[in-house]
Parts: sequence; structure tokens; C-alpha cells
Amino acid sequence: MCGIIGATSSRSVGKILIKGLQLMEYRGYDSAGIALNQKEQVFRLRALGKVSNLEEMMVEHKPKAKTGIAHTRWATHGEPSEDNAHPHGSNDEVYIVHNGIIENHESIRARLKKEGYKIISQTDSELIAHLIHFYKQKLGKTTQAMIEATKELKGAYSIAVIDKDKKGKVFAARQKSPLLIGRGIEENFVASDPLAIASVAEGFYLLEDGDFAEISKDKIKIFDETSKEVQRNETLIEATATATSRGGYKHFMEKEIYEQPESVGNTINGRLGENDVLNNIFGLGSSDAFKEVKRIQFVACGTSLHAAKTARKWFEDICETPCYIDFASEYRYRNPLVEENTLFVSISQSGETADTLAALEYAKSKEYLGAVSICNVPTSTMARDADWKMFTNAGPEIGVASTKAFTTQLAALLMLAISIAKSQDINKDKRAEATQDLRNTPSLLQEAFALKADIDQITENIASKNNALYLGRGMFFSIAQEGALKLKEISYIHAEAYPAGELKHGPLALVDDKIPVVALAPEDSLVEKLLSNLEEVKARGGTLYVFGNAKSKIEIKRGKFIKMPECGTYNAPIVYTVPLQLLAYEVACHRGTDLDQPRNLAKSVTVE
Ligand code: G6P
Repeated sequence: MCGIIGATSSRSVGKILIKGLQLMEYRGYDSAGIALNQKEQVFRLRALGKVSNLEEMMVEHKPKAKTGIAHTRWATHGEPSEDNAHPHGSNDEVYIVHNGIIENHESIRARLKKEGYKIISQTDSELIAHLIHFYKQKLGKTTQAMIEATKELKGAYSIAVIDKDKKGKVFAARQKSPLLIGRGIEENFVASDPLAIASVAEGFYLLEDGDFAEISKDKIKIFDETSKEVQRNETLIEATATATSRGGYKHFMEKEIYEQPESVGNTINGRLGENDVLNNIFGLGSSDAFKEVKRIQFVACGTSLHAAKTARKWFEDICETPCYIDFASEYRYRNPLVEENTLFVSISQSGETADTLAALEYAKSKEYLGAVSICNVPTSTMARDADWKMFTNAGPEIGVASTKAFTTQLAALLMLAISIAKSQDINKDKRAEATQDLRNTPSLLQEAFALKADIDQITENIASKNNALYLGRGMFFSIAQEGALKLKEISYIHAEAYPAGELKHGPLALVDDKIPVVALAPEDSLVEKLLSNLEEVKARGGTLYVFGNAKSKIEIKRGKFIKMPECGTYNAPIVYTVPLQLLAYEVACHRGTDLDQPRNLAKSVTVE
């Protein structure tokens, strides 16, 4: 959701800024822009679409400067256009890049117009540049001007600023939107994501909400919300080059699908005992606190929400705990009634999703037993805000469509269910079986890749259609939902998932030879019922693609039965995810979509 970067150095920073933008392109790719503080003036270039377009313009113009800021945009206020692209400037003097949303932009716009400012774009961001300029006129100092300007802003922002009159300096501010400082050798940086500057920074300072920073090539000054200069701890962040390269795969998504055995291995590594999870794997004191858990409230968005929905059955089964699950964007607007001893669990790959963070903040004002976060990014806001946490250790996920984040979240959720049951000393046998299933998961995921050959045979037919139905029952309905989400996100085929038993209550009317029906038929207690539901599809001439095992093998005239590896009760949903990811991926490749960066989407959604 917009990536921002700034650099000040003893060398030219143009290429560093462009490379940083490319590494943050997952945050949005509607437009990209750069502003460089040159001798006489600020030089600005902006391009519609991807960073590569901006890069081409840079090759043409060859600008040189030792200080600059840059931005890759996911449009919120104002369509993607050059005028709306960042950096935004005020009076050829102050230039800013912004990530976030300024909620009171209308009143600020009106006020600035009265002050005589000419507002060119439709964005809320441009107003920040004018506000800073306005206060700079009054106060003289840029940092002081930023402090005053941001006092007027309501909403979320991370900002990086350059000022024509302050050569060699980048100014920054953070409020509810990720931003960190990178310390280099004779150079310093600011960015939304450590990945963007990992190759040039030696250490990082995570800014806190309300912080300001003023950096030059050899100095980093950080001020808190009271304008007092503060020291923030230097953090080491592992962000290796392999994590941010495609490593021989065509797309990041493909690489991330095939990384899953290793990623899930990293999630469970060091957390399992022989027949149980280890104590306190969610942090010190968690095992004791979990003794009291009577209910669980999950909140998440997108794929992470599907992880919660899938996991519900594990919580009911292994720790006998009722669960509530909400879309993070809805949760706090329904005034949830919190029963005693309810544990609040937020799930997020990025740990920066605005809706989920807002839900967590709201939950903290309620009488929950405590808040657990399951998250993939240790430096994220969510990781800092929760009482207990588990990092999924999946490594950076770059493809916008989430894959390895999902399967690792499932592994973490299964460990949470076992952990609560262990604290409450119940269902020892189920805990042991689930622990063993977790241990077997990486090798089963590896086996599932062999299904690619079968999937290749059905790709073309699905790719030629405009709609698809996905069916499952129990936990596999949620896996079907995730499969349908993958297909629509990256291939733009409309796909809907239904619990197979619901088919006859409406969606069966859609079934004909033009809508492929993908069904998950694992060997579980619902398999007989599911097979009857699939007969309803066959009887209407539907094309069926069934993923199942020996017990669920049905004769299919139109379509295909694909045999899955033999899974355990507890790891089957994780393993059944893989063929649906591969299917979506292959279909999207067939349709030639930009599947690492599908249209209109962004990976880290830091606006509400
Ligand atoms: C965006 C992404 C999805 C992701 C969702 C939640 O919509 O495109 O892939 O599932 O945000 O993200 P989170 O980082 O909170 O898991």
C-alpha cells in the first residue's frame, strides 16, 4: 500500500532509490516517482504504472544527486495519473512522499486554498507538502514545520521529505504506518520496508508512532511525539538477497509455492516436543495464561481470515474452545460482546494491515484475556502490539497473492490449539496425533508438488472459462474459499466457494458445461455426503475436478479425479491447499496475467 524511500549519501542515490522501489513494488504499482535534491533545484520524475517505466525515464535523463526520495503508489485518493503520482511538491521547495490516508483532507484542502496554495492533484498527500511549506514560511526550520504540519493531520501516515534549501537532508515522520531508518556507511536511509534498503543498510531503527527523524549522510536524529530527541534501539534485520530474488522461478508466487515445505518446516522448527508442542511457544507466560482460555475471537483479512476459518475446527476439536471469527474491517463496528476469558487472536502476514491493527487496538480496550498475534514480519507493528505472538518464519512473501504465508499460518494455528489444550491438560491423544501430523507436513507438501502434471491437464479448460465454483465441506470449505480467492486474484476469473451441501440451495442453478466445479474430497467423516453433492453436479452435466483419495474416488465422465497424497487428519487441509495454489498459478500463467502484481491489488494494505 504505497512504498516510500529516502536516501542521503556521499554517492549518487538515484539507482539505490529505484532498486528500493522495485523491492517494495508489492505495496502498489499504479505509479512511481522520484525527487532528487540537485544543486540549483529539486529534479522530479514521475511515471504511470510500474517502477520499470520510471527506471527507463531515469536512463534517459541521467539525473545525479546525493539526496532524494521516491514512491511507488497504490491509488486511494485520485486515479492513477502523473499529477496524482508522488513525490508531491509545494512551491518548488518542499517535496514529500506519503503512505497512508489523511482523513481530514477536505478541511485542510479548503484552508490551504484560502492561504493561496494552488493544489494540483486529487490526492490527500499533496496537502502535506503545502502544509509543511506553510509552516516553514512561519518557523523557518523544516523539522519544526513538519512537527507543526503533522499536528494537523488525522489518520495514518509515513512521510519522507526533502527541502530544496536543506541539501543532504531527508526528514521523516511516522504515525500508524510502517517506517524505519537504515544506517549505512557514509549514507543513511528511510523506508517503509527493510527489504528496500537491506543491501545498503548495516542496521535499522524502527520508528514509533509519533516519531520524527532528520537524517543526513553521517547523522540520524530521532524525536518523539513531544519533540524530544530520543534514541531508538538499533535492530538487526535479516533480509537476504535470495529472499528478494526469483531464484530461477518465473514468478515470486511460483517460488513461494515451492518454498512451502521449507517454510512450514521453519514454522514448526524448535516448537515441537515428541508428542506435544513445547511450553511458552507464544512467549513467556503464554502457557500459564492459556489455562484460562474459554473462547477465542479471531480477526484477520483476506487469506489470513481463511486461515482462521480453517483452524476453527482444530480449536473445537483439540482444545474444546468455541471460536468467533470476524473480518477485521467489520469487527469493531459491531460492538462485540466479550465473554469472560476470551482470547483475542489476530492473524496477519505483514503485521501492517490497517483493519487488523485497528481491530487489535480496539480489542485492547475490551476485557479480553489477552491478545495473541500470528504474524510473519517480526519488525511489524502487530508484532509489537500483541501480548503474545508467534512468528511464522515463512521469510519475505513478495507475490501479492498469499501462499506460503497461509500454510505457515495454519501450522501456527494448529500449534496454538495444541498449546491451549496442553495448558488445560485435555485431549492428550489428539495433541500427540496433531503434533505428529505437523512434523509430517513438510514432506507431504513436497509430495503434493507431483500433482503439477495432473493440474497441467485441466489448466486450459479452466483458463478458457469466466467463472468457477469451488466446493468443500467442513474445514475444506475454507480451503475451497482460499482456492477460489487465489483464482480470482491472479487470473481474474470469477470464482465462488460453497459448502457442498449448500449447492442445492441456489448455486446449482449455475451448473452447466461452462462452469468448472472444483471439489475437495478428503477422506473425512463428511466424504459420503460430499460425494452425494457431487452427484448433483454430474447429473446436471457439470465438469468436475475432484481432489481426493482412494475412498473418495468417483467416476467422472466430464472432468478429472486427482489423487492426493495420503494425509493425516490434522495436516490434510494444509496439504490440500497446494494443488489449488498450483491450479490458480497455472491458469493465470495460461491467461498471461501479471500474476505477481495483479491489477488493482496490493500486498500490504495499510489503509482502512
Ligand atoms: C491484502 C493481500 C492479501 C492478504 C490481505 C491480508 O489484501 O492482497 O493477500 O491476505 O491483504 O494481509 P495480511 O498481511 O494482514 O495477512
